[in-house]
Amino acid sequence: MAEKSKILIIGGTGYIGKFIVEASAKSGHPTFVLLRESTISDPVKGKIVEGFKNSGVKILIGDLNDHESLVKAIKQVDVVISTVGQLQLADQTKIIDAIKEAGNVKRFLPSEFGNDVDRTRAVEPAKSTFEIKAKLRRTIEENGIPYTYVSSNYFAGYSLPTLAQPGAWAPPPPRDKVIIYGDGNAKAVFNDERDIGTYTIRAVDDPRTLNKILYIKPPRNIYSFNELVALWEKKIGKTLEKEYLSEEQLLKQIQESPIPVNIILAINHSILVKGDQTYFEIEPSFGVEASELYPDVKYTTVEEYLDQFV
Ligand SMILES: NC(=O)c1ccc[n+]([C@@H]2O[C@H](COP(=O)([O-])OP(=O)(O)OC[C@H]3O[C@@H](n4cnc5c(N)ncnc54)[C@H](OP(=O)(O)O)[C@@H]3O)[C@@H](O)[C@H]2O)c1
Repeated sequence: MAEKSKILIIGGTGYIGKFIVEASAKSGHPTFVLLRESTISDPVKGKIVEGFKNSGVKILIGDLNDHESLVKAIKQVDVVISTVGQLQLADQTKIIDAIKEAGNVKRFLPSEFGNDVDRTRAVEPAKSTFEIKAKLRRTIEENGIPYTYVSSNYFAGYSLPTLAQPGAWAPPPPRDKVIIYGDGNAKAVFNDERDIGTYTIRAVDDPRTLNKILYIKPPRNIYSFNELVALWEKKIGKTLEKEYLSEEQLLKQIQESPIPVNIILAINHSILVKGDQTYFEIEPSFGVEASELYPDVKYTTVEEYLDQFV
C-alpha cells in the first residue's frame, strides 16, 4: 500500500480545525500543525496543543503572515489543509504563494467547510464572505495547484443544538415554540464535525477527489426544517407552537441586525429559505459525494445527534 501522505493543518486550534487534526492523527497520517507562539502559551489553546502532542501531532511554529515559516512547514509535507477562520480567509493567498515556492504539494484544501460558494445565492453580508472563498478558488486554479474543496454544509454543532433559532447560542433545542424560516420546505444538510474530519482526511490521497468539490451530503442527514421540527417533536413527544418568519421579514431582519447576527441570519436565509445546499445536482465534472465514496464510514445521523438533547 502507498505510504500515507504527510498532512499540515493551518488553523488546527480553531473550531473545525480541531476535528480535522484529530481525524488526521487517528488515521495514521503523519500530522503537523502550524501554530503561533502566542497560541501555545495561551492557557486555553495550550491545552488543545497538549492534546495534539499526546496524539503524536508535530507542532511547527509559524504564522500565516510569516512567509518563510509557511514555506519551511509546507516543504515537510504532501498535503496542506487550511481551516483558518472568517477573518483570515483572504490572507490564504499567502498560503498559495508559499505552496508555489515550496513546489512539493500534492493537494491543497483551502478553508471552505460550508456551502458550495460557486453555487450560493446568498444575500449580503454572507454574499461577500462567500465571494472571498470563490475568489480564492479561482487563484488556486489559475496557479495549477491540485485541490479539493470540502463543502461540508452545516456544522451540526452550530445548528442542531438550538435548531438554528435566532438569538439562541446553547442547547437544548426549543421545547415550546419554534421559529421556521420561510415555508420550512427547503432541504439542508447537517453533519457531525467528527464526520467532517473523517471524510476530509479520507479525501486527501484519493484520486477521485482531485480537483473536485467534495460534498458531504449523506442521505440520512438531509432534512427540511419542517421535517427537522417534526423529528424533534417525535423525540420529545410534544407538538411545538410554530411561527413562520417570511422571507421578506427575514431579509428585513438581516438589514437591521448588527454584525455578526446579520451574517448568521443571511447564511440561514441562503440555506433554509433558498435551499442553497441542495437545489443543484452534483455533476461528476465538478463534484463527488463523500458518503458514496466512503460507504464504510459510519456517520452520525441527525436522528442520532438529536438524541443527546432529549
Ligand atoms: N458550515 C458551517 O456551519 C460553518 C460554521 C462556522 C465556520 N465555517 C467555516 O469553517 C472554516 C473555519 O472556521 P472556524 O470558525 O472553525 O475558524 P476559527 O475557529 O476562527 O479558527 C481559526 C484558526 O485560524 C488560526 N489563525 C488565525 N490567525 C492566524 C495566523 N495569522 N496564523 C496562523 N493561524 C492563524 C487560529 O489560531 P488561534 O487558535 O491561535 O486563534 C485558529 O486555529 C471557515 O472557512 C468558516 O467559514 C463553517
